[in-house]
Amino acid sequence: MIKDKLNRQFEYLRISVTDKCNFRCTYCMPKEIFDSKHQFLKKNELLTYEEIIEVAKTLKPFGLKKIRLTGGEPLLRKNIEYLVEGLKKDALIDKVMITSNGSLLTKEKLIALQKSGLDSVTISLDASSQKVANIMNPVNNNYILVSEAIDNVISIFDSVKVNMVVIKGVNDKEIIPMVEKFLGKSVELRFIEYMDVGESNNWSLSNVFSSKETKDLVGKYFSLKKLPDLIDSTSEKWSIDNYALNIAFISSISKPFCSECNRGRLSANGNFYTCLFSDKPYNFSSYFRNEKNNLSFNDYFIKVWSNRNDQYSQLRVINKIDKSKKNKVEMSYIGG
Ligand code: GTP
Ligand code: 5AD
Ligand code: SF4
Ligand code: SF4
Repeated sequence: MIKDKLNRQFEYLRISVTDKCNFRCTYCMPKEIFDSKHQFLKKNELLTYEEIIEVAKTLKPFGLKKIRLTGGEPLLRKNIEYLVEGLKKDALIDKVMITSNGSLLTKEKLIALQKSGLDSVTISLDASSQKVANIMNPVNNNYILVSEAIDNVISIFDSVKVNMVVIKGVNDKEIIPMVEKFLGKSVELRFIEYMDVGESNNWSLSNVFSSKETKDLVGKYFSLKKLPDLIDSTSEKWSIDNYALNIAFISSISKPFCSECNRGRLSANGNFYTCLFSDKPYNFSSYFRNEKNNLSFNDYFIKVWSNRNDQYSQLRVINKIDKSKKNKVEMSYIGG
Protein backbone atom coordinates (compact mmCIF):
# COMPACT_ATOMS: atom_id res chain seq x y z
CA MET A 1 0.00 0.00 0.00
CA ILE A 2 1.33 3.40 -0.96
CA LYS A 3 -0.07 6.93 -0.61
CA ASP A 4 0.62 10.16 -2.48
CA LYS A 5 1.01 13.73 -1.17
CA LEU A 6 -2.79 14.13 -1.02
CA ASN A 7 -3.18 10.86 0.90
CA ARG A 8 -4.50 8.95 -2.11
CA GLN A 9 -3.72 5.27 -2.25
CA PHE A 10 -2.52 3.62 -5.47
CA GLU A 11 -5.00 0.90 -6.50
CA TYR A 12 -5.90 1.23 -10.14
CA LEU A 13 -3.90 1.17 -13.39
CA ARG A 14 -5.34 2.19 -16.75
CA ILE A 15 -3.28 0.74 -19.57
CA SER A 16 -3.37 1.98 -23.15
CA VAL A 17 -2.35 -1.07 -25.18
CA THR A 18 -2.22 0.85 -28.48
CA ASP A 19 -2.45 4.50 -29.51
CA LYS A 20 -4.20 3.50 -32.75
CA CYS A 21 -7.94 3.48 -33.32
CA ASN A 22 -10.18 2.58 -36.24
CA PHE A 23 -12.53 5.46 -35.27
CA ARG A 24 -11.92 9.21 -35.33
CA CYS A 25 -14.19 10.71 -32.66
CA THR A 26 -13.99 14.49 -32.94
CA TYR A 27 -13.39 14.90 -29.17
CA CYS A 28 -10.55 12.37 -29.05
CA MET A 29 -8.79 11.82 -32.41
CA PRO A 30 -10.02 14.49 -34.86
CA LYS A 31 -9.39 13.14 -38.35
CA GLU A 32 -7.68 16.34 -39.55
CA ILE A 33 -4.92 15.79 -36.97
CA PHE A 34 -4.81 12.01 -36.72
CA ASP A 35 -4.41 11.63 -40.49
CA SER A 36 -2.06 9.52 -42.63
CA LYS A 37 0.87 11.77 -41.63
CA HIS A 38 0.36 11.23 -37.90
CA GLN A 39 3.21 9.30 -36.31
CA PHE A 40 1.77 6.47 -34.24
CA LEU A 41 4.00 4.38 -32.00
CA LYS A 42 6.02 1.76 -33.84
CA LYS A 43 5.37 -1.89 -33.19
CA ASN A 44 8.71 -2.48 -31.48
CA GLU A 45 8.03 0.41 -29.08
CA LEU A 46 4.86 -1.20 -27.72
CA LEU A 47 5.14 -3.12 -24.47
CA THR A 48 4.62 -6.82 -25.14
CA TYR A 49 1.93 -8.71 -23.25
CA GLU A 50 4.67 -10.39 -21.19
CA GLU A 51 6.08 -6.97 -20.24
CA ILE A 52 2.64 -5.62 -19.28
CA ILE A 53 1.98 -8.69 -17.11
CA GLU A 54 5.36 -8.16 -15.46
CA VAL A 55 4.46 -4.51 -14.71
CA ALA A 56 1.19 -5.70 -13.12
CA LYS A 57 2.96 -8.33 -11.02
CA THR A 58 5.49 -5.78 -9.83
CA LEU A 59 2.83 -3.21 -8.91
CA LYS A 60 0.51 -5.66 -7.14
CA PRO A 61 2.40 -5.53 -3.81
CA PHE A 62 1.93 -1.73 -3.89
CA GLY A 63 -1.85 -2.22 -3.74
CA LEU A 64 -2.83 -2.63 -7.40
CA LYS A 65 -6.32 -4.17 -7.53
CA LYS A 66 -7.89 -3.02 -10.78
CA ILE A 67 -6.68 -2.75 -14.35
CA ARG A 68 -8.63 -1.21 -17.21
CA LEU A 69 -7.36 -1.88 -20.75
CA THR A 70 -7.95 1.05 -23.08
CA GLY A 71 -6.35 2.70 -26.09
CA GLY A 72 -6.86 3.88 -28.75
CA GLU A 73 -8.93 0.82 -29.47
CA PRO A 74 -7.61 -2.08 -27.37
CA LEU A 75 -9.14 -4.72 -29.66
CA LEU A 76 -6.71 -3.66 -32.38
CA ARG A 77 -4.03 -5.62 -30.48
CA LYS A 78 -4.04 -9.26 -31.57
CA ASN A 79 -5.35 -11.86 -29.12
CA ILE A 80 -5.96 -9.35 -26.33
CA GLU A 81 -7.56 -12.24 -24.41
CA TYR A 82 -4.04 -13.64 -23.82
CA LEU A 83 -3.15 -10.42 -22.00
CA VAL A 84 -6.36 -10.56 -19.94
CA GLU A 85 -5.62 -14.16 -18.99
CA GLY A 86 -2.09 -13.29 -17.88
CA LEU A 87 -3.30 -10.33 -15.81
CA LYS A 88 -5.99 -12.42 -14.10
CA LYS A 89 -4.31 -15.81 -13.71
CA ASP A 90 -0.62 -14.95 -13.57
CA ALA A 91 -0.51 -11.45 -12.06
CA LEU A 92 -3.64 -12.23 -9.97
CA ILE A 93 -5.27 -8.82 -10.48
CA ASP A 94 -8.74 -8.75 -8.82
CA LYS A 95 -10.54 -6.87 -11.58
CA VAL A 96 -9.56 -6.60 -15.24
CA MET A 97 -11.87 -4.54 -17.43
CA ILE A 98 -11.86 -3.15 -20.92
CA THR A 99 -13.15 0.06 -22.54
CA SER A 100 -13.73 -0.38 -26.27
CA ASN A 101 -15.54 1.26 -29.18
CA GLY A 102 -17.27 -2.10 -29.72
CA SER A 103 -16.65 -2.33 -33.46
CA LEU A 104 -14.43 -5.41 -33.18
CA LEU A 105 -16.25 -7.10 -30.30
CA THR A 106 -17.77 -10.08 -32.06
CA LYS A 107 -19.63 -12.73 -30.09
CA GLU A 108 -16.66 -15.12 -30.49
CA LYS A 109 -14.25 -12.48 -29.18
CA LEU A 110 -16.49 -11.77 -26.19
CA ILE A 111 -16.69 -15.46 -25.33
CA ALA A 112 -12.87 -15.72 -25.56
CA LEU A 113 -12.54 -12.66 -23.31
CA GLN A 114 -14.95 -14.06 -20.77
CA LYS A 115 -13.06 -17.38 -20.71
CA SER A 116 -9.82 -15.50 -20.13
CA GLY A 117 -11.33 -14.01 -16.95
CA LEU A 118 -12.31 -10.50 -18.07
CA ASP A 119 -14.63 -8.97 -15.46
CA SER A 120 -16.55 -6.35 -17.44
CA VAL A 121 -16.84 -4.40 -20.67
CA THR A 122 -17.55 -0.71 -21.28
CA ILE A 123 -18.52 0.43 -24.78
CA SER A 124 -18.51 3.99 -26.15
CA LEU A 125 -21.57 5.11 -28.10
CA ASP A 126 -22.56 8.75 -28.46
CA ALA A 127 -25.87 8.63 -30.32
CA SER A 128 -28.84 6.42 -31.04
CA SER A 129 -28.85 7.18 -34.75
CA GLN A 130 -26.24 6.59 -37.44
CA LYS A 131 -26.62 10.23 -38.55
CA VAL A 132 -25.55 11.80 -35.24
CA ALA A 133 -23.07 9.00 -34.52
CA ASN A 134 -21.38 10.03 -37.77
CA ILE A 135 -21.11 13.66 -36.69
CA MET A 136 -19.43 12.63 -33.44
CA ASN A 137 -17.30 10.14 -35.31
CA PRO A 138 -17.04 10.54 -39.07
CA VAL A 139 -15.70 7.05 -39.68
CA ASN A 140 -18.23 5.20 -37.55
CA ASN A 141 -20.18 3.34 -40.17
CA ASN A 142 -20.60 0.59 -37.64
CA TYR A 143 -23.42 1.96 -35.54
CA ILE A 144 -25.38 -1.29 -35.98
CA LEU A 145 -22.32 -3.40 -35.16
CA VAL A 146 -21.70 -1.39 -31.98
CA SER A 147 -25.36 -1.78 -30.94
CA GLU A 148 -25.08 -5.53 -31.53
CA ALA A 149 -21.88 -5.64 -29.50
CA ILE A 150 -23.71 -3.97 -26.61
CA ASP A 151 -26.42 -6.67 -26.73
CA ASN A 152 -23.81 -9.41 -26.93
CA VAL A 153 -21.96 -8.03 -23.90
CA ILE A 154 -25.23 -8.15 -21.95
CA SER A 155 -25.88 -11.74 -22.94
CA ILE A 156 -22.34 -12.89 -22.08
CA PHE A 157 -21.39 -10.63 -19.12
CA ASP A 158 -24.97 -9.95 -17.82
CA SER A 159 -24.57 -6.18 -17.98
CA VAL A 160 -22.67 -3.45 -19.79
CA LYS A 161 -21.60 0.15 -19.24
CA VAL A 162 -22.17 2.48 -22.19
CA ASN A 163 -20.17 5.74 -22.35
CA MET A 164 -21.76 8.72 -24.09
CA VAL A 165 -19.73 11.93 -24.34
CA VAL A 166 -22.20 14.81 -24.60
CA ILE A 167 -21.25 17.89 -26.66
CA LYS A 168 -23.54 20.88 -26.55
CA GLY A 169 -25.40 21.50 -29.79
CA VAL A 170 -23.97 18.33 -31.34
CA ASN A 171 -25.49 15.29 -29.64
CA ASP A 172 -27.42 16.62 -26.63
CA LYS A 173 -30.66 15.92 -28.53
CA GLU A 174 -29.65 12.25 -28.40
CA ILE A 175 -29.81 12.04 -24.60
CA ILE A 176 -33.48 11.03 -24.37
CA PRO A 177 -33.34 8.68 -27.42
CA MET A 178 -30.32 6.97 -25.83
CA VAL A 179 -32.22 6.54 -22.54
CA GLU A 180 -35.19 5.13 -24.47
CA LYS A 181 -32.95 2.79 -26.49
CA PHE A 182 -31.63 1.10 -23.36
CA LEU A 183 -34.61 1.41 -20.94
CA GLY A 184 -35.39 -2.30 -20.69
CA LYS A 185 -31.78 -3.49 -20.75
CA SER A 186 -29.19 -4.28 -18.15
CA VAL A 187 -27.19 -1.19 -19.06
CA GLU A 188 -25.49 1.60 -17.10
CA LEU A 189 -25.64 4.56 -19.48
CA ARG A 190 -22.98 7.07 -18.48
CA PHE A 191 -23.17 10.67 -19.62
CA ILE A 192 -19.66 12.10 -19.75
CA GLU A 193 -18.90 15.80 -19.67
CA TYR A 194 -16.70 16.72 -22.60
CA MET A 195 -13.16 17.17 -21.26
CA ASP A 196 -10.16 19.26 -22.27
CA VAL A 197 -7.87 16.25 -22.69
CA GLY A 198 -4.89 16.62 -25.03
CA GLU A 199 -4.32 19.59 -27.31
CA SER A 200 -6.07 18.55 -30.51
CA ASN A 201 -9.84 18.57 -29.91
CA ASN A 202 -10.33 22.34 -29.78
CA TRP A 203 -12.21 22.05 -26.48
CA SER A 204 -14.06 25.00 -25.06
CA LEU A 205 -16.14 25.28 -21.91
CA SER A 206 -19.06 26.51 -24.02
CA ASN A 207 -19.25 23.05 -25.66
CA VAL A 208 -19.76 21.27 -22.36
CA PHE A 209 -23.27 19.97 -21.70
CA SER A 210 -23.16 19.64 -17.93
CA SER A 211 -24.32 16.65 -15.91
CA LYS A 212 -26.87 18.92 -14.24
CA GLU A 213 -28.37 19.85 -17.60
CA THR A 214 -28.50 16.17 -18.58
CA LYS A 215 -30.02 15.11 -15.28
CA ASP A 216 -32.66 17.85 -15.39
CA LEU A 217 -33.56 16.80 -18.92
CA VAL A 218 -33.85 13.08 -18.13
CA GLY A 219 -35.72 13.94 -14.90
CA LYS A 220 -38.45 15.65 -16.95
CA TYR A 221 -39.35 12.34 -18.59
CA PHE A 222 -38.41 9.70 -16.01
CA SER A 223 -38.52 9.22 -12.27
CA LEU A 224 -34.92 8.95 -11.00
CA LYS A 225 -33.62 7.56 -7.69
CA LYS A 226 -30.08 8.21 -6.49
CA LEU A 227 -28.00 5.08 -5.88
CA PRO A 228 -25.33 5.02 -3.15
CA ASP A 229 -21.96 6.49 -4.12
CA LEU A 230 -19.14 3.96 -4.41
CA ILE A 231 -15.75 5.03 -3.09
CA ASP A 232 -13.26 5.99 -5.83
CA SER A 233 -15.92 5.89 -8.56
CA THR A 234 -15.78 8.45 -11.35
CA SER A 235 -19.56 8.56 -11.55
CA GLU A 236 -22.78 9.29 -9.66
CA LYS A 237 -25.49 6.74 -10.42
CA TRP A 238 -29.29 6.85 -10.57
CA SER A 239 -31.90 4.17 -11.17
CA ILE A 240 -35.02 4.76 -13.26
CA ASP A 241 -38.29 3.65 -11.66
CA ASN A 242 -39.71 0.51 -13.29
CA TYR A 243 -36.82 0.00 -15.72
CA ALA A 244 -33.64 -2.08 -15.81
CA LEU A 245 -31.54 0.85 -17.08
CA ASN A 246 -29.39 2.83 -14.65
CA ILE A 247 -27.88 6.16 -15.64
CA ALA A 248 -24.66 7.74 -14.38
CA PHE A 249 -22.87 11.05 -14.69
CA ILE A 250 -19.13 11.56 -15.06
CA SER A 251 -18.61 15.20 -14.20
CA SER A 252 -14.94 15.87 -14.52
CA ILE A 253 -15.68 19.50 -15.45
CA SER A 254 -18.46 20.50 -13.02
CA LYS A 255 -17.71 18.16 -10.10
CA PRO A 256 -14.15 16.78 -10.24
CA PHE A 257 -13.21 13.63 -8.36
CA CYS A 258 -9.48 14.29 -7.90
CA SER A 259 -9.60 13.95 -4.11
CA GLU A 260 -10.27 10.20 -4.50
CA CYS A 261 -8.13 9.59 -7.56
CA ASN A 262 -6.39 6.26 -7.00
CA ARG A 263 -5.26 5.71 -10.59
CA GLY A 264 -2.11 5.78 -12.61
CA ARG A 265 -1.86 5.44 -16.37
CA LEU A 266 0.51 3.47 -18.55
CA SER A 267 0.96 4.36 -22.20
CA ALA A 268 1.40 1.67 -24.85
CA ASN A 269 5.15 2.31 -24.95
CA GLY A 270 5.57 2.04 -21.20
CA ASN A 271 5.44 5.61 -19.92
CA PHE A 272 3.65 6.04 -16.60
CA TYR A 273 1.58 9.19 -15.90
CA THR A 274 0.16 10.23 -12.55
CA CYS A 275 -2.80 12.16 -14.06
CA LEU A 276 -4.90 12.11 -17.23
CA PHE A 277 -3.82 15.70 -17.83
CA SER A 278 -0.17 15.25 -17.05
CA ASP A 279 2.67 16.07 -19.39
CA LYS A 280 5.32 14.29 -17.37
CA PRO A 281 6.18 10.72 -18.38
CA TYR A 282 7.93 8.34 -16.00
CA ASN A 283 9.85 5.80 -18.02
CA PHE A 284 8.73 2.36 -16.82
CA SER A 285 9.72 0.54 -19.99
CA SER A 286 13.43 0.97 -19.24
CA TYR A 287 12.93 -1.16 -16.12
CA PHE A 288 10.98 -3.87 -17.90
CA ARG A 289 13.42 -3.90 -20.82
CA ASN A 290 16.40 -4.30 -18.52
CA GLU A 291 18.04 -1.01 -19.40
CA LYS A 292 20.45 0.57 -16.90
CA ASN A 293 18.78 2.50 -14.08
CA ASN A 294 20.11 4.11 -10.93
CA LEU A 295 17.24 3.08 -8.69
CA SER A 296 15.53 -0.28 -8.33
CA PHE A 297 12.02 -0.28 -9.82
CA ASN A 298 10.44 -0.46 -6.37
CA ASP A 299 12.36 2.59 -5.12
CA TYR A 300 11.55 4.46 -8.34
CA PHE A 301 7.81 3.74 -8.04
CA ILE A 302 7.74 4.72 -4.36
CA LYS A 303 9.38 8.02 -5.31
CA VAL A 304 6.95 8.67 -8.20
CA TRP A 305 3.75 7.88 -6.29
CA SER A 306 4.71 9.45 -2.98
CA ASN A 307 5.57 12.73 -4.75
CA ARG A 308 2.30 12.76 -6.70
CA ASN A 309 0.16 15.85 -6.13
CA ASP A 310 -1.88 16.09 -9.37
CA GLN A 311 -5.42 17.46 -9.23
CA TYR A 312 -5.86 19.03 -12.63
CA SER A 313 -9.68 18.97 -12.78
CA GLN A 314 -9.94 20.46 -9.30
CA LEU A 315 -7.54 23.25 -10.25
CA ARG A 316 -9.48 23.89 -13.45
CA VAL A 317 -12.60 24.61 -11.39
CA ILE A 318 -10.80 27.29 -9.38
CA ASN A 319 -9.14 28.65 -12.51
CA LYS A 320 -5.60 27.74 -11.55
CA ILE A 321 -4.48 26.04 -14.77
CA ASP A 322 -1.57 27.58 -16.61
CA LYS A 323 -3.17 27.83 -20.07
CA SER A 324 0.04 28.96 -21.71
CA LYS A 325 1.45 25.43 -21.26
CA LYS A 326 0.36 23.47 -24.31
CA ASN A 327 1.71 20.00 -23.88
CA LYS A 328 -1.02 17.78 -22.44
CA VAL A 329 -0.82 14.24 -23.69
CA GLU A 330 -3.53 12.93 -26.05
CA MET A 331 -6.22 10.63 -24.64
CA SER A 332 -5.53 7.92 -27.24
CA TYR A 333 -1.90 7.78 -26.04
CA ILE A 334 -2.47 8.00 -22.29
CA GLY A 335 -5.51 5.71 -22.15
CA GLY A 336 -8.59 7.69 -21.12
P1 GTP B 1 -14.69 2.48 -13.76
O1 GTP B 1 -13.49 1.62 -13.68
O2 GTP B 1 -15.97 1.70 -13.89
O3 GTP B 1 -14.75 3.53 -12.68
O4 GTP B 1 -14.62 3.15 -15.17
P2 GTP B 1 -14.09 4.55 -15.58
O5 GTP B 1 -15.25 5.47 -15.58
O6 GTP B 1 -12.91 4.91 -14.80
O7 GTP B 1 -13.56 4.24 -17.06
P3 GTP B 1 -13.99 4.57 -18.54
O8 GTP B 1 -12.87 4.03 -19.38
O9 GTP B 1 -15.34 4.07 -18.81
O10 GTP B 1 -13.99 6.14 -18.62
C1 GTP B 1 -15.13 6.93 -18.50
C2 GTP B 1 -14.76 8.39 -18.57
O11 GTP B 1 -14.16 8.79 -17.36
C3 GTP B 1 -13.80 8.73 -19.71
O12 GTP B 1 -14.16 9.95 -20.28
C4 GTP B 1 -12.50 8.85 -18.97
O13 GTP B 1 -11.60 9.66 -19.63
C5 GTP B 1 -12.96 9.46 -17.67
N1 GTP B 1 -12.01 9.19 -16.61
C6 GTP B 1 -11.61 7.97 -16.16
N2 GTP B 1 -10.70 8.12 -15.19
C7 GTP B 1 -10.54 9.45 -15.02
C8 GTP B 1 -9.72 10.24 -14.17
O14 GTP B 1 -8.96 9.73 -13.35
N3 GTP B 1 -9.81 11.59 -14.31
C9 GTP B 1 -10.63 12.17 -15.19
N4 GTP B 1 -10.67 13.50 -15.22
N5 GTP B 1 -11.42 11.47 -16.01
C10 GTP B 1 -11.35 10.13 -15.92
N1 5AD C 1 -13.88 14.02 -23.00
C1 5AD C 1 -14.60 13.09 -22.34
N2 5AD C 1 -14.51 11.76 -22.59
C2 5AD C 1 -13.70 11.39 -23.58
N3 5AD C 1 -13.43 10.17 -24.07
C3 5AD C 1 -12.52 10.31 -25.07
N4 5AD C 1 -12.19 11.60 -25.23
C4 5AD C 1 -12.93 12.30 -24.32
C5 5AD C 1 -13.05 13.68 -24.00
N5 5AD C 1 -12.35 14.63 -24.64
C6 5AD C 1 -14.04 8.94 -23.58
C7 5AD C 1 -14.43 7.97 -24.67
C8 5AD C 1 -14.31 6.62 -24.00
C9 5AD C 1 -13.53 6.88 -22.74
C10 5AD C 1 -12.36 6.01 -22.53
O1 5AD C 1 -13.12 8.22 -22.81
O2 5AD C 1 -15.72 8.19 -25.12
O3 5AD C 1 -15.56 6.09 -23.69
FE1 SF4 D 1 -11.18 5.76 -30.76
FE2 SF4 D 1 -12.32 5.70 -28.35
FE3 SF4 D 1 -10.90 7.83 -29.13
FE4 SF4 D 1 -13.22 7.35 -30.30
S1 SF4 D 1 -12.90 7.84 -28.10
S2 SF4 D 1 -11.31 7.90 -31.34
S3 SF4 D 1 -13.27 5.14 -30.31
S4 SF4 D 1 -10.10 5.79 -28.78
FE1 SF4 E 1 -7.06 12.01 -11.24
FE2 SF4 E 1 -5.97 13.89 -12.73
FE3 SF4 E 1 -8.43 12.98 -13.26
FE4 SF4 E 1 -7.99 14.51 -11.13
S1 SF4 E 1 -7.76 15.12 -13.24
S2 SF4 E 1 -9.22 12.64 -11.22
S3 SF4 E 1 -5.93 13.79 -10.51
S4 SF4 E 1 -6.51 11.83 -13.37
